[in-house]
Amino acid sequence: MTETFVRACALTELEEDAPKRVELEGVPVALVRTEGEVFAVNDICSHANVSLSEGEVEDCQIECWLHGSSFDLRTGKPSGLPATRPIPVYPVKIEGDDVLVSVTQES
Ligand code: FES
Repeated sequence: MTETFVRACALTELEEDAPKRVELEGVPVALVRTEGEVFAVNDICSHANVSLSEGEVEDCQIECWLHGSSFDLRTGKPSGLPATRPIPVYPVKIEGDDVLVSVTQES
């Protein structure tokens, strides 16, 4: 399957450990710059309809502020209850100062 990357934002718009919500092709995406990398995950918690980009980032995980489940930014897997299902994780490419994300295929 071919991946279609779309520009999400400028790399300089992303502050370390400060998630940014964008909408790409109708998909809410949380962009996170942490540990020298940029990650893109679905912005909606798999437990309830809560925006993950409003949560905290630590140890390459994003925490849902409502009930405290954390999701691994590399795999989307929750580290603990109450969330049990992973969130989608999307491929990211950096080209110059552009952050490109493909929401057409989950990695
Ligand atoms: S809504 Fe995210 S853990 Fe409950």
